[in-house]
Amino acid sequence: MGHTLFGALGLFSLNILLYCGHAQGALKLGTSSLKAPFMQIQQHGEQPIRSRSCSSLKSTKLRNTSWRTKLRRESLLHLAISFGVLGLNNVENPSYVPQSVLTVSPSWTSPGDSVTLTCSVEPPSAGWRFFWYKAVPKGSIAYTYELLAGGTTGTEQDSYIIHGQTHTAGYKCRAGRGDPVFYTQNSDLKFVWSGGVNPAASLTVSPHRLQHFSTESLSLICEGNSAEWRVKKADEDGKRSICSKWGAMNGSTCNTDTRASSGVYWCESETQSSNAANITIHRESVTLHCRHGDQRKEKNADFYKDKTLIEMDTNHQHTHEITISLMSDGSSYKCRFKD
Ligand SMILES: *[C@@H]1O[C@H](CO)[C@@H](O)[C@H](O)[C@H]1NC(C)=O
Ligand SMILES: *[C@@H]1O[C@H](CO)[C@@H](O)[C@H](O)[C@H]1NC(C)=O
Ligand SMILES: *[C@@H]1O[C@H](CO)[C@@H](O)[C@H](O)[C@H]1NC(C)=O
Repeated sequence: MGHTLFGALGLFSLNILLYCGHAQGALKLGTSSLKAPFMQIQQHGEQPIRSRSCSSLKSTKLRNTSWRTKLRRESLLHLAISFGVLGLNNVENPSYVPQSVLTVSPSWTSPGDSVTLTCSVEPPSAGWRFFWYKAVPKGSIAYTYELLAGGTTGTEQDSYIIHGQTHTAGYKCRAGRGDPVFYTQNSDLKFVWSGGVNPAASLTVSPHRLQHFSTESLSLICEGNSAEWRVKKADEDGKRSICSKWGAMNGSTCNTDTRASSGVYWCESETQSSNAANITIHRESVTLHCRHGDQRKEKNADFYKDKTLIEMDTNHQHTHEITISLMSDGSSYKCRFKD
């Protein structure tokens, strides 16, 4: 996989989203809130370059010659595809690209289990072929997508069975029909969680409980065949984040802080994924004290949450403290004494 070229063409405010295609089995997504046509180009491991429009693609300032040559060749092909798709899309429905929805069953597995992926198109219609992708970690949070067997022609069946699932893995699907192929939007990324131990990649939670309080730090320890682990979390809405959002890495261990919240946690390297742990973290309230260097001065303290004043100390008792419930992740609190 050298580099990936992908493009998204949105037509003014019609909210049309098109994928100019995928190269070498890697797939990238655009967003559906585009206001003007643009094309985005990304080389693995680098920041995406966004051109003003698809037609200005050729003049994008790309310094790397070998990459530029290949890009020019592919951009013409992909532009052709995108305009082809646009034409077809206009015939089908000018302002709507259907969505693929993926379900995985079961969502928790033991090593060796079979997993069934099912893809449906919203709103439902006939004549689709289905394309199945497996997420491959790339960088700290991103994934690239590898086409599963079933290949570039897709499968006629709207379900796909993975035999002998051994570890946590993410999947996506999309459907396509016609010639040139008109694709739906990609489904969300869905994970199949492995509850079983995989010696090549394992997550240990210390202290060993699945119910915790946000005020105690947890150690999420990654072990196995990698020198570089990332500890990841998926919350109830499927939103993913990495250790630095709610803790700090020390070697292969993530030590959580008070920002950690309930979710499914697992370890990942470029090639391995560990078992996952569904951890419930109860949030408590805490009392914040505001101290002044000069203890004798009787002053009022104001408290700020993310730079917004939340409490003025007006009771003249100068307690200099407030109690907050640790409901929100990652808020920063500050106090200030009034002169
Ligand atoms: C240009 O791209 C090629 C292929 O991706 C890469 O091997 C090479 O190091 C790049 N050259 C520069 C100067 O960035
Ligand atoms: C990282 O872990 C090692 C070994 O457990 C420990 O000695 C060290 O103090 C830790 N470093 C930090 C910054 O916590
Ligand atoms: C994790 O556990 C909670 C509480 O038992 C449950 O509601 C939730 O569905 C579980 N999440 C997953 C992904 O299984």
